[in-house]
Amino acid sequence: MNVVITGANRGIGLGFVKHYLARDCYVWATYRSEHGGLHEIDNDRLRCIQWDVTDEISEARLKTMEMPDSIDLLINNAGIYGPKKAHGQSFDSVTAETMLEVFDVDCVGALRVSQALSTRVITARGVIANMSSKMGSNEDNTSGGGYAYRAAKAALVIVSRSMALDLAVDGVKVITLHPGWVSTDMTDNSGLIDVVTSVVGLSRVIENIDDYELGAFVAFDGQRVPF
Ligand SMILES: NC(=O)c1ccc[n+]([C@@H]2O[C@H](COP(=O)([O-])OP(=O)(O)OC[C@H]3O[C@@H](n4cnc5c(N)ncnc54)[C@H](OP(=O)(O)O)[C@@H]3O)[C@@H](O)[C@H]2O)c1
Repeated sequence: MNVVITGANRGIGLGFVKHYLARDCYVWATYRSEHGGLHEIDNDRLRCIQWDVTDEISEARLKTMEMPDSIDLLINNAGIYGPKKAHGQSFDSVTAETMLEVFDVDCVGALRVSQALSTRVITARGVIANMSSKMGSNEDNTSGGGYAYRAAKAALVIVSRSMALDLAVDGVKVITLHPGWVSTDMTDNSGLIDVVTSVVGLSRVIENIDDYELGAFVAFDGQRVPF
């Protein structure tokens, strides 16, 4: 199985890399600028590729990256939170620049990468998994704040659902994921679960994608996230 994972040099993305390598998959792990934890992995089935998801990408560049002709699973994992509450995502402090920067990575990034790789995913009649967050759920928003992150992750749920409907005719299945509150750099390691627990749960959801409706929004524990 050929798996492509964005934002794979640390956190949940790196966890996915280790998970799928351990299951005999071929993994194309993309990183924005630093190899990070990918450096420590010695495996012939791993290829590491520099790819900033805010970059437009040409077919010629994809060829130099040696992306496989057929992709069974694309995980759009790359994401940023943006400034932490005290520094810029409160009602008083959030700026248009912050809103657009986070939107570009967390929502447009997943769309851009999916568009660039769609032919290859269609060839495999594969799966696209988009990493959103429960913070993108309107129903879950009982505390306010987090303007840029919440908006970008909510928009990703919408984009992901449209992708699910549009690509179904090509045999591609699309799902939207919430990884839980995970101990990574993003949460200052204050999560409720570790990366392995999240990744094992999410990969089970991906494996059981047929149990869910098109473009469903599903958490690592298999439960649908109310939107
Ligand atoms: N941790 C949680 O509790 C939690 C909860 C809900 C949703 N999520 C989502 O899960 C995903 C992974 O989160 P995480 O906790 O593993 O976060 P993380 O530890 O902060 O890692 C984020 C990853 O995304 C990469 N990235 C950021 N901007 C990028 C860009 N422009 N192009 C390519 N890669 C980029 C980072 O690369 P660099 O190392 O180069 O910065 C890093 O590899 C994110 O989409 C996040 O929003 C996480």
